[in-house]
Amino acid sequence: MYKVVANSELAPGYKLVKIHAPLVAAKIQPGQFFVLRIDEKGERIPMSIFEFDRKRGYIETVVHEVGKTTKKLASLEVGDGIMNIIGPLGKPSEIRRYGHVVCICREGTVGAIHPIARSLKRAGNKVTIIVGARSKEYVFLLDKLKKISDEVIVATDDGSMGRKGYAVSALRDFLKSNKVDLILSIGPTLLMKTASKIAKEHGAKAISSLGAIMLDGTGMCGACRVTVGGETKFACVHGPEFDGYKVDFDELKRRQKMYVEEEKIALKEYERLL
Ligand SMILES: Cc1cc2nc3c(=O)[nH]c(=O)nc-3n(C[C@H](O)[C@H](O)[C@H](O)COP(=O)(O)OP(=O)(O)OC[C@H]3O[C@@H](n4cnc5c(N)ncnc54)[C@H](O)[C@@H]3O)c2cc1C
Ligand code: FES
Repeated sequence: MYKVVANSELAPGYKLVKIHAPLVAAKIQPGQFFVLRIDEKGERIPMSIFEFDRKRGYIETVVHEVGKTTKKLASLEVGDGIMNIIGPLGKPSEIRRYGHVVCICREGTVGAIHPIARSLKRAGNKVTIIVGARSKEYVFLLDKLKKISDEVIVATDDGSMGRKGYAVSALRDFLKSNKVDLILSIGPTLLMKTASKIAKEHGAKAISSLGAIMLDGTGMCGACRVTVGGETKFACVHGPEFDGYKVDFDELKRRQKMYVEEEKIALKEYERLL
């Protein structure tokens, strides 16, 4: 069992969960993920790491409660156990000196962006982070982001914090007066598709970390199949990061919605039993 050692609310529907998982903490690299199963009857879900402590054996993850398993995970209390955790999985981010990097994300995906942006900064890049959110209530971990970057730009849909509008609009405006070498996006598929398109228009490299549905996380089940540059890839082993110019984002979006009906039934049944 992997013990939950802390669980705090970041915003409605978002939790920061800290887990004792020494083997994962010892080896995980920015860009990689882990797969967990809460109990014997549980579904396996992929999660990213916000922070890791190699010495004490802790990992921290930002949980966005979207369905049965993420709601169950968010409800765990200090001392509760998670049955299985496997990882690190996937390829680490390519950390090198690109020049000026913009990391763009929305709400909970600040978790996955954080260790990557920090490593890019340590590698000598200028790092700008653009965070999008519904409203100021959903902007969190800002202090942590400010510490590991040169600048953080906030965009909220309702204008309650930072500039009004979507993160991609902030990106467009930023590029009017800044030369950027790499745009790294983690977030909703439309955000990543748009960010990659904008990157191409401005001659910047684009990398997106794909939120494909995953089961085993080891390249065997095919659930995470994506098309990149016309070739079939498995996001869990060949990614999750890919060249944003080449990703078929429309197919990714369709495949993410493959089990919507089953997901609704699972959530309803879970809530009925609460
Ligand atoms: C590499 C990777 C890293 C991830 N890291 C995190 C993380 O750090 N924190 C976090 O909260 N979530 C993360 N996710 C997404 C998370 O795995 C899914 O939200 C989760 O599997 C949903 O399970 P569920 O049973 O709660 O909801 P479900 O009932 O399975 O899904 C509910 C709805 O959520 C959406 N959804 C489901 N799976 C995904 C997915 N893989 N990506 C995007 N949307 C999805 C769909 O729209 C779906 O209809 C990550 C996904 C990947 C592929
Ligand atoms: S999750 Fe099964 S092949 Fe990638």
